[in-house]
Amino acid sequence: MRVIILLIWAAMLVPVASAQETLTMAALKEADYMKGKRSFQGRCSACHTLAADSGDIAGPNLWEVFSRTAGGKESFDYSETLARADFVWSPDRLDAWLADPEGYLPGNIMGIPEAVPERDRANLISFMLIETGAVDWPRPEAAFADAQTDKSKPPSERFPSFWNHLMYNTVRYRWEDESAGENFRFDIYFMTDGSVLSNQKRLNGFWRINSKDFFCYALQGMPVGVGSMVECFPVAAMAIPRFSEELWTSKPQGAVKLHGGIQPGRPDWVEIGASPP
Ligand code: HEC
Repeated sequence: MRVIILLIWAAMLVPVASAQETLTMAALKEADYMKGKRSFQGRCSACHTLAADSGDIAGPNLWEVFSRTAGGKESFDYSETLARADFVWSPDRLDAWLADPEGYLPGNIMGIPEAVPERDRANLISFMLIETGAVDWPRPEAAFADAQTDKSKPPSERFPSFWNHLMYNTVRYRWEDESAGENFRFDIYFMTDGSVLSNQKRLNGFWRINSKDFFCYALQGMPVGVGSMVECFPVAAMAIPRFSEELWTSKPQGAVKLHGGIQPGRPDWVEIGASPP
């Protein structure tokens, strides 16, 4: 008997708990700014900027998003779904979308890898309200500390948008050597453990961030040139994440031009550490 009562009681608790979860402005004001900031940097900043004077990257700039119609930014090429939407973004709307990225707006092309967990959403949305100019709540003092100069912190914390952009997406190269008649494409995956994988079977390598904050990497087993190369660039150069087929060009040796760019996402075999198909 007691078991049955407990079961009924437990079943009744569920809807009550979720009904209390509505995002009131009072609750959002009390949310944790720093947690929201970290969540935005980790989950959103590879594709979105927030500040008034920033541009669109893979996703639209979100300044004043909470007073604009969904899909309403002139400069951005939205999916049909967003372009046809006729509601203004509110905290509750965004909350519902982030809880169910595919289901809430079927056909949208945002493509985040997973729903944002409930425990993160209020902090994230509160941070966004502040940083997109919707409210003028004060930011906590700690938000101004410059994490970038604190070298005791891991690179994932010092350079979160660089980290997320490079460690979870595909770096695509084109090796161009006109004199040797070489025009060769390969994909590189920088792994969080410092190793480098590629879609080319024998190609591998490693990377480090040195004491001057240069990202340096070495590749070997390349089917072109002398078969290996080393290259460094300042982490700051990658601080504004963008996706494009060709974003930079370097000259690793002789007359070779090496074009590099970043494509969103990675094939599944990379994540499980398997060999290229
Ligand atoms: C892989 C890139 C990517 C990531 C990561 C990403 N977005 Fe987006 N976002 C997009 C794209 C692309 C669109 C436009 C979607 C469409 O047109 O269907 C978009 C649209 C939006 C919009 C609607 C803007 C408008 O003008 O209507 C909001 C709000 C938004 N994203 C918030 C977020 C938040 C919050 C996160 C992190 C949890 C996030 N996005 C992560 C690419 C991304």
